[in-house]
Amino acid sequence: MNNNTFIHKYLKGLPLDDKCVVDMTCGNGNDTFFLAKHARNVYAIDISKEAIIRTRERCKDFNNIIYINDDHQNIDKYIKDKIYLFIFNLGYLPDSSSQSLTKASTTLSAIKKAIELCNGYLVISFYRGQEGGKDEYLRISKYLIDNNILPIETYRQYRHENEPLTAIYKLNQKNQ
Ligand SMILES: C[S@@+](CC[C@H](N)C(=O)[O-])C[C@H]1O[C@@H](n2cnc3c(N)ncnc32)[C@H](O)[C@@H]1O
Repeated sequence: MNNNTFIHKYLKGLPLDDKCVVDMTCGNGNDTFFLAKHARNVYAIDISKEAIIRTRERCKDFNNIIYINDDHQNIDKYIKDKIYLFIFNLGYLPDSSSQSLTKASTTLSAIKKAIELCNGYLVISFYRGQEGGKDEYLRISKYLIDNNILPIETYRQYRHENEPLTAIYKLNQKNQ
């Protein structure tokens, strides 16, 4: 089972059907597609124009998605209400000329905003073997641990040290 399969399996156990959720890196649209199928509304954000085009095409049969072509650290410009779930599937857009790799500093700033807005779950997949991925993982994990936000679930395949790692956090008012 890869990390994306793990996430979707986990999310199937949550009561998403009447919830508003956010895909903070919509990329090729796979997570947005899953969320649009199971949740009431989805915000799909990506800094890459190409990612938004790909996600729109992949999800063309859904009418419950709001697309945002912007840096995810600006998410609070678009959302004011509490959100049940935020997903960060970090890294870069596969098969693309765009250089839109997530970076520790902007990801951290986006995660801080997600924590403010979230009353539910935060899901983060770290790609520790990619350029800057280990630093991103270490900085964000440290921030969360320092703020007493600990994962309720983690997943990795235990094949090598720098493989992708997914962490799931449950957030509520006491984290804010
Ligand atoms: C691994 S892909 C996401 C995969 C996607 N969730 C899917 O299901 O297909 C990572 C995405 O993060 C996006 N990204 C990188 N930096 C970003 C930022 N600062 N704000 C928003 N998106 C960003 C990239 O453009 C890329 O599309």
